[in-house]
Amino acid sequence: MPAELIDGKAIAASIRDEVAHDVATLTARGVVPGLTVVLVGDDGASATYVGAKEKASVAAGMAGSTLRYPAGITQEELLRVLSRLNADPTVHGILVQMPLPKHIDPDTIIRHIVPEKDVDGFHPVNVGKLLIGHTDGFVSCTPAGVIELLTRSGVETRGADAVIVGRSNIVGKPMAALLVQARAGGDATVTVCHSRSRDLGAHTRRADILIVAAGRANMITGDMIKAGAVVIDVGMNHVPDATRAKGTRLVGDVHFDSAVHVASKITPVPGGVGPMTIAMLLRNTVRAARQASGISTR
Ligand code: GUN
Repeated sequence: MPAELIDGKAIAASIRDEVAHDVATLTARGVVPGLTVVLVGDDGASATYVGAKEKASVAAGMAGSTLRYPAGITQEELLRVLSRLNADPTVHGILVQMPLPKHIDPDTIIRHIVPEKDVDGFHPVNVGKLLIGHTDGFVSCTPAGVIELLTRSGVETRGADAVIVGRSNIVGKPMAALLVQARAGGDATVTVCHSRSRDLGAHTRRADILIVAAGRANMITGDMIKAGAVVIDVGMNHVPDATRAKGTRLVGDVHFDSAVHVASKITPVPGGVGPMTIAMLLRNTVRAARQASGISTR
């Protein structure tokens, strides 16, 4: 029997409904949650992501806006923009779309956003809170979304062998920090694999929960997965496909056609992890507005 699909679109839609409810409560109390996205340069993919973030925030009833700057903006100018947003009480969440042009240091930019408005969860203060297990910080949206997919699909993480492929600051490392916490949605035994891991398959075949965020199309095949495992595919790779009008097609890091016959549950690409990222960004922004205003929505 093929694996059950974990429907990220449907789960993201429920979270967006919950967010819209919280936005309405805050707005009725005079606080409209505000998200400002900063886009530097004219990378097409970044422009598409940023457009989707603004549209989703407005659809949830937030004050969503995008500030666009040419690729030639200096680091000092960008830091001044962030200082202004840090001080603006109508802006609760700030997101600087990555990647930035080479002359701008992303770590300097991330550290300049006040942690209370860092709804991306990239600031060292928020990363530290995540690791310690403090819940008043912001968690990177994609790994937070993966935990929601697991818990809302009835997947028990407690005691599970969770194997993560990929050690990025945005996904792999925070994913490990979430799964190892002593609480619901955590309590897993966590292994992090990466490009220097010896015998990757020996690790992935032990996984009850396999999370792949390596950025390589179809790298995990069915023979690398334990029968009955839950497979979460974070990959988003554009591969050539002459049958498509665009000339490319989106595939994950997991070879879906072989994995679907081995796993018990699996996320499709597209329609799995992807839609969760924006939903979690909206949720982080509502919480930033709640924490800044002291208004509770539940
Ligand atoms: N670029 C690709 N993904 C992300 C993300 O989650 N946040 C930001 N700021 N930039 C990105």
